[in-house]
Amino acid sequence: MHHQFRPRRLARAALTVALAAFPLVIAACTQYPNSVFHPRTDTNRDIGFLFEILIWFGSIVFVVVEAILIYTLVRFRRRAGTTRQPEHVHGNTTLEITWTIIPALILVFIAIPTVRTIFRTQARARSDALQVEVIGHQWWWEFRYPQFTMRSPTGKLDTVVTANELYLPKGRTVNFTLKSVDVIHSFWVPALSGKRDLIANHTNYLWFTPDSAMSTAYNGFCVEYCGASHANMRFRTFVVTPDEFAGWISHQETPAAFAMPAPAPPPAAAAVSSAGGAGAPVPAAAAAGSGVAAAATTATTLAPPTQPIAQAGFIAFARERMPEYTVPKTPTPSDISYTDPYGDAGRGAELLMKGQGACLGCHTIRGNPSMIGQIGPNLTHVGSRTTIAAGLYPNDARHLALWIKNARKMKPGVLMPTIGLNEYDPQLGTTMKAGLTDQQIADIVAYLQALK
Ligand code: CUA
Repeated sequence: MHHQFRPRRLARAALTVALAAFPLVIAACTQYPNSVFHPRTDTNRDIGFLFEILIWFGSIVFVVVEAILIYTLVRFRRRAGTTRQPEHVHGNTTLEITWTIIPALILVFIAIPTVRTIFRTQARARSDALQVEVIGHQWWWEFRYPQFTMRSPTGKLDTVVTANELYLPKGRTVNFTLKSVDVIHSFWVPALSGKRDLIANHTNYLWFTPDSAMSTAYNGFCVEYCGASHANMRFRTFVVTPDEFAGWISHQETPAAFAMPAPAPPPAAAAVSSAGGAGAPVPAAAAAGSGVAAAATTATTLAPPTQPIAQAGFIAFARERMPEYTVPKTPTPSDISYTDPYGDAGRGAELLMKGQGACLGCHTIRGNPSMIGQIGPNLTHVGSRTTIAAGLYPNDARHLALWIKNARKMKPGVLMPTIGLNEYDPQLGTTMKAGLTDQQIADIVAYLQALK
């Protein structure tokens, strides 16, 4: 008699474990910060609602079907001395119709909210939405705010452009225009939206309205495999109050805080015309600095930051306010040495204007006429960002220096060349016989950090 109870007890135990584990799995997912289970936008709440009704009603169907199956297995299992069989129902019209109609009703039940959610989330964004262009690059994010422009020193109107850090005002719908300059990437901030691909020669759209009760930061990811550093293509999204956003964007509309160069006295103007070289007018300080080893002396002629950062109000999300899980903790390669000398921002600016390190070939710093490269991230306000290398490392002097020295060891496959003197370039397989010394790197880092 005893052994007859065992299967039933086993079945009951299995069912109990399954039922207990399911909420635990769901609960475990909600513990992680990069989670869709804490929707923070209208779009994500719609999707979350759909997910929840499907998962719960699906679970009910699962439990009912499994219970009937387990009951049948136990009740009609082969027993010694019996030949009892369940009733055979093949050809039973009533049952056939019943189990056709029930799934059809279930599908209708699923389709109505699904189609409604698709129509709502795929509709055009409201016309007063904040517009943000997202451009995917191997392996970093360009964010452009076409409704906001700054007049560059040459008089040209430039769209506000930043990289790897997205600022959004809460309560305002934001409409993303998603593009790629190379391969397919995919944009995802789990708490804010579903994923959407960025495709070359094709524009995708995505909108949502951030509703977080407090200003906070979220991790964003590339979620379409796009090459060697796909996993290192991250970004931060800062959802801030409308006032904070206005402060940030108006600061983004200004040129680089560390002005280049000091207002030139009239005699220096002659030096500009004689400097030649670059197409853009070369400021006097650069012309003076073109002499050998002149950097140290000309540094004193450069202007300090034109506006004290503290007076500009809210500029960037304070690092202390960043949740722990948004602070990058990527270990740095142990085989890049750096002596960490004292850096001078004026000398660093000088080096860049002279084309040292070839930074100007790829990067723009608005307000610095020699820095107009378009390939790499815009560095106009790089000093105010919290991370570098597409969210991979914290933006501090040491990480920035290591990055400039040997980016390719810091982030596999990166386009940024190896710039440190005598550094081994893992992509070229050669040691750089020309490049920047630790002192020069420290100076450039000091300059970049001054670009708040
Ligand atoms: Cu970009 Cu994966």
